[in-house]
Amino acid sequence: MLYYCAVRVILVRDYDQVSVRAAQFVADEIKKNPSLVLGLPTGSTPVGMYKELVKLFQSGTISFKKASAFQLDEYVGLAPDHPQSYQFFLKDHFLDNVDFPASNAHFLDGMSQDIPKTCDIYETSIRKSGGLGLVILGIGRDGHIAFNEPGSSLSSRTRLKTLDHTTIRDNARFFDQPEDVPKFAVTMGVGTIMDSKMVLLLASGRNKAQVVSDVVEGPMTAMVTGSILQMHPKVTVIIDGEAATRLRRLDYYTKVEEMWDEKLSV
Ligand code: GLP
Repeated sequence: MLYYCAVRVILVRDYDQVSVRAAQFVADEIKKNPSLVLGLPTGSTPVGMYKELVKLFQSGTISFKKASAFQLDEYVGLAPDHPQSYQFFLKDHFLDNVDFPASNAHFLDGMSQDIPKTCDIYETSIRKSGGLGLVILGIGRDGHIAFNEPGSSLSSRTRLKTLDHTTIRDNARFFDQPEDVPKFAVTMGVGTIMDSKMVLLLASGRNKAQVVSDVVEGPMTAMVTGSILQMHPKVTVIIDGEAATRLRRLDYYTKVEEMWDEKLSV
């Protein structure tokens, strides 16, 4: 087999290209399997990808009519109509702008009075939907995927998580006052994400360079929860030049992609 990277790394020029390439990736998978079960991320990184997916929908290239979605994580204490809730984000940037059936979109209830029960029900819904087919991820500067902060169990399932001070600081830019940032979240576990058939991770910009190298090439450790993706059989990482600056084997990844393209074009 030509392709044998533990993690497939696709290097593109800049943030716009990350968005276009990621949308193309998702579109290809939706075309192969219209009933794809998606795990959907928030944060600033996937915003461009969602815009591109909406364009692909509007041009009639793809449809989400048969697809399902599960949000990756949600703040505790924010109602679904709070502009900073992740449910609001996903509807606003993506779900409400395409033909996604409302009944196929699953959200975590950050207002639940019984969070463990909510989490169990969520895991059951994922199983009932046939399991996650493609989880799309951003990456926190401390290496967290969804809200699986450093030190999370690498086999964890959906649960309540106390946020790390780095994450609270990073996310403060979305709130009027730093003290408004929720301190807790409900999140799919690392084990939940690892059960997905495919994973797509996106990163852009110099401030993600260190964590990208930790995730792709660093030792596998619960201190960088994204590094467990090295154990996943089908992970693709799409990054721009700035996010790639600390990768030791960048030439190799680029060469593999070129060889793969040549093979596909013969
Ligand atoms: C939050 C989200 C993560 C996301 C991270 C990075 O903590 N829970 O899912 O990956 O932010 O966000 P950004 O893309 O804005 O750097």
